[in-house]
Amino acid sequence: MMREPIIPNLVIILFFTFFFFSISFAIDILTPSHPLSYGENLISANGTFALGFFTPPNTTNSYIGIWYRNLAVQTVVWVANRRNPIHNINATLSIIADDASLRLITSGNSTPLWSSPSFPNSNPNPVAQLLDTGNLIIRASNSSSHLWQSFDYPTDTLLSGMKLGPELKIGIDRNLTSWLSNSDPSPGKYSLVIDTIGVPQLVIRDLSGRWIWRGGPWNGYAFSGACPKRLFSIDLYRDFSQGFNSTPEEIFFYYNTIGDAISTLTMDQEGVTRIYQWKASSQKWNLLWFAPSDPCDFFPACGTNAICDSSSSPICQCLGGFNPKNPVSWSEGNWSDGCVRGAALDCRANKADEFLVVRGTTLPDTTEAVADMSLGLDECKTRCLMNCSCTAYATVYRNGGGGIGCIIWMAEIKDLRSSADDRQQDLFIRKN
Ligand SMILES: *[C@@H]1O[C@H](CO)[C@@H](O)[C@H](O)[C@H]1NC(C)=O
Ligand SMILES: *[C@@H]1O[C@H](CO)[C@@H](O)[C@H](O)[C@H]1NC(C)=O
Ligand SMILES: *[C@@H]1O[C@H](CO)[C@@H](O)[C@H](O)[C@H]1NC(C)=O
Ligand SMILES: *[C@@H]1O[C@H](CO)[C@@H](O)[C@H](O)[C@H]1NC(C)=O
Ligand SMILES: *[C@@H]1O[C@H](CO)[C@@H](O)[C@H](O)[C@H]1NC(C)=O
Ligand SMILES: *[C@@H]1O[C@H](CO)[C@@H](O)[C@H](O)[C@H]1NC(C)=O
Ligand SMILES: *[C@@H]1O[C@H](CO)[C@@H](O)[C@H](O)[C@H]1NC(C)=O
Repeated sequence: MMREPIIPNLVIILFFTFFFFSISFAIDILTPSHPLSYGENLISANGTFALGFFTPPNTTNSYIGIWYRNLAVQTVVWVANRRNPIHNINATLSIIADDASLRLITSGNSTPLWSSPSFPNSNPNPVAQLLDTGNLIIRASNSSSHLWQSFDYPTDTLLSGMKLGPELKIGIDRNLTSWLSNSDPSPGKYSLVIDTIGVPQLVIRDLSGRWIWRGGPWNGYAFSGACPKRLFSIDLYRDFSQGFNSTPEEIFFYYNTIGDAISTLTMDQEGVTRIYQWKASSQKWNLLWFAPSDPCDFFPACGTNAICDSSSSPICQCLGGFNPKNPVSWSEGNWSDGCVRGAALDCRANKADEFLVVRGTTLPDTTEAVADMSLGLDECKTRCLMNCSCTAYATVYRNGGGGIGCIIWMAEIKDLRSSADDRQQDLFIRKN
């Protein structure tokens, strides 16, 4: 995503041309008989989005992309051929009648630079259409249901109404992956993903798979560790409706803007995920929220069995009943070895273990946790006491006072952060 106002002259001229086209021949549909040539655009029906060829700053490479058509700052939200730039302006984007695939073809080249999957047995007359949501779909001309949609293949931007998370049945992974640089939309170093191991969590990962930030599991309201109130005085819960769904077919997060607000959620080249809102009065993107944003946000800020509080010094403290595993390095501010139990758990037939309550916290890493929506908090405790591997429990959803469901942790507590958000949950940690 580019947010620099510096746009090469060529792009400005092309934009002017596009604008002209949009007045004269605004079309949102591509048919087999009319491919899109360099310099032409599709315009969504109400004019919000355009699809066409664009050239990022400081390069001569061009790409097929989707951008907001009416914003003063060029904002590309999707790129088709992010790995294979166009070097030759004799390029066309065509919808192929035989197999309903979109193909980006350059002259003298039989291999397309980019193509969407083919649907050989679909009915004839496929069309590609750019919708007002920013979604590019392929469908049969006499049907409104899509064969393929760009929303299933996000670039670095999640728009209102898109889904983030895997579609397990057809095996697509809808994640956001940063651009390599402002001049190069090819996949960069960081991805925002829903990690599905254990209880699903929102995570920023780097290329090696290392976790940078853990937004944590969904608490019915938001991601437990993506705590907006702490950052700015705005209330994201009010400006967006957001949701999360986990079924055997798919696991996804989505948000919807309210009213005519324009917002994006992006994964940027520095490894920061951000929410922007367009401010019409200043003609600028306004940053609403970002993560990671404080020392406790970097995974895992403290080692095991410790809690991180960025407003205290030192930021890491062992949980009650636990002591630094390596007191010397701990006292020097090296938290990596974490904390160990002062006394081993009882875990015998008499079930004498008790629980330390950490109030209003983000939930620790749920990679080795299990959730059961049918259990209440008391049954959750009983379930935890029945299994010697259980180290902690909490409700799945925070919901007024009581909460719903039961998460049980089967590994040492990792990446626990205190929270200033009063809408967090209580965590019950097993102790002797
Ligand atoms: C383009 O390159 C110039 C000179 O290297 C640099 O100052 C500018 O920031 C670059 N623009 C972008 C958007 O990267
Ligand atoms: C583009 O195509 C035209 C006509 O097919 C040809 O004359 C021209 O040389 C081509 N330009 C490039 C840059 O390939
Ligand atoms: C265009 O359509 C989208 C999707 O229905 C809607 O959210 C947006 O407000 C519309 N914009 C205008 C300018 O009508
Ligand atoms: C669309 O057209 C095809 C081919 O003419 C036909 O087989 C199909 O039943 C039509 N579908 C609908 C929904 O009308
Ligand atoms: C993101 O999704 C793409 C496919 O859409 C996949 O190739 C890539 O491995 C995914 N990245 C991560 C970090 O999951
Ligand atoms: C912190 O401690 C770990 C384990 O004892 C060690 O591997 C690491 O190098 C230390 N980090 C620093 C910055 O000293
Ligand atoms: C305890 O939980 C672990 C991990 O879920 C499971 O493999 C094990 O069978 C459980 N033990 C008992 C006694 O339920």
